[in-house]
Amino acid sequence: MLKGLSIVVLFVYLLPSYDAKLYNKCELARDLLNKHGFDKTYLANWICLVKHESNFDTSSVVERPGRRTRYGLFGIIKNTHCKEDSNRGICGRKCEDFTDDYIDDDVECAKLIFERDGFKNWTNWEIRCKNTDLGNIPNLRHQCGI
Ligand SMILES: *[C@@H]1O[C@H](CO)[C@@H](O)[C@H](O)[C@H]1NC(C)=O
Repeated sequence: MLKGLSIVVLFVYLLPSYDAKLYNKCELARDLLNKHGFDKTYLANWICLVKHESNFDTSSVVERPGRRTRYGLFGIIKNTHCKEDSNRGICGRKCEDFTDDYIDDDVECAKLIFERDGFKNWTNWEIRCKNTDLGNIPNLRHQCGI
C-alpha cells in the first residue's frame, strides 16, 4: 500500500506542468532585465508594482469587493486585459494563463498595457509606487547590485 502510494506521488511530481513560483525580489529584477528585455529606467517601478500586485507570487489571484479581479505577478485585470475561459481582452488571453510560473505571456501583456497607458492603470502603482523611494532605481542598485 505504502509503495503504491509513493509511486502515485512520484508520478504526480513527474507530470509536466507549470507550477506556481514565488520570486525573490532581486531574482525577478534580474530576470526582467536580462531575460525579458525590460528597460533599466523603469525597473524599480516594475518591481514595486509586482510587489504590491502579487507579492512576487506567480499564482496570485486577487479578488476584492468592488474591484476587478487581478491575475498573476503583474495583476492583469479581468475583463479589461483578459477574460475568464476565453482568449479575449486587450491581451487576447485567458486570465487563468497568467497564474502559472511561465511568465513570458504575463510580461508581454504587462508591456502592452504599459505601451498604451504607462503605469497609471495600475492603481496600486499610483498609490504605493509613484513618487516614492520604492520606485527609484538607486534602491535596486543598493539592494540587488543591479
Ligand atoms: C486604462 O484604463 C482606461 C479607463 O478605465 C481604459 O479605457 C483603458 O483601456 C485602459 N488601458 C489599458 C491598457 O489597460
